[in-house]
Amino acid sequence: MPRVHVCEVGPRDGLQNARHLMSTEAKKAWISALAAAGLREIEVGSFVPPKLIPAMADTAEVVRHSLQIQGLKVVALAPNLKGFQRALEAGAHKVTFPVSASRAHSESNVRMTPEQMVEEVRKCARLGGAQIEGAVSTAFGCTMQGVVPEDEVVRIAASLAEFCDAVALADTVGYANPAQVKRLFRLVRSQIGSKLEGAHFHNTRGLGLANALAAYEEGVRNFDSSMGGLGGCPFAPGASGNVITEDLVFMFESMGVSTGIDLEKLFQARKILTEAIPEEPVYGHTPLAGLPKGFRAAA
Ligand code: COA
Ligand code: ZN
Repeated sequence: MPRVHVCEVGPRDGLQNARHLMSTEAKKAWISALAAAGLREIEVGSFVPPKLIPAMADTAEVVRHSLQIQGLKVVALAPNLKGFQRALEAGAHKVTFPVSASRAHSESNVRMTPEQMVEEVRKCARLGGAQIEGAVSTAFGCTMQGVVPEDEVVRIAASLAEFCDAVALADTVGYANPAQVKRLFRLVRSQIGSKLEGAHFHNTRGLGLANALAAYEEGVRNFDSSMGGLGGCPFAPGASGNVITEDLVFMFESMGVSTGIDLEKLFQARKILTEAIPEEPVYGHTPLAGLPKGFRAAA
């Protein structure tokens, strides 16, 4: 049976951009419920200066909680060496670094040029201690600089592939379309082969699922998504939520592609999210409409 692997990024990408703070206890309960629904990888937070993103101030505690969940790969985002060291100290299994292909976004997001950021990640990889994913942000376009040349994306992905365990392409601001997704994944894969793993899409213009399907057809099997479609980079103007986990899982399961995720249990996890920050807008068609009569999951 065909399978895909979903990494839930709501506790990081989602909550970093939410208007309402989720308590540490609620985060823990939410993550536990996500894992109980079958998520095997969750990006539980980021190690950035708490002054910059107060919602991420408790990431170390959230990581420590998540490490107690059996079989869960605990991921954290880091923007620099200091963040990586904090992630190692907390015990994260995997650390994701945002390496923007747009110089404008890179400087706004991490105050480094893309080249400086690549070198920062290289330093961390030399230290070792966790799996490292280099996520090429704004790979499909940037709200600050507009077009991001595909050559730039390839160049950064190739540099990252030298020392990262995996490389992902991220549509940080929801500019991608399915034809572009197929072209760029094919192009980058032709340069770095199976090091290219993940796809990180935002649903800003409603194309999140279409892009995910295009990537799937191009051979991608690792997808980031966010429960309730929360998300967005606070340092990229116009960024909004990720592709919605509930709808992504429904799409794949109904196609006969197994995600290992139980949709009913996923809806229970969504309840924890919406009760914890009731004023925060959440999205998702499948949870509102319910599963179709006679629906059968892939597995
Ligand atoms: N965690 C905690 N504190 C950190 C830190 C980290 N990862 N990185 C730096 N700091 C602290 C420094 O120790 C320093 O503290 P001090 O003022 O008490 O001495 C202060 O922050 C400034 O450090 P500096 O290295 O000059 O950072 P900066 O101000 O140039 O900011 C980043 C650079 C990378 C830390 C910041 O731009 C950042 O966190 N960006 C990520 C934003 C993000 O999360 N985007 C969304 C996800 S893609
Ligand atoms: Zn994102």
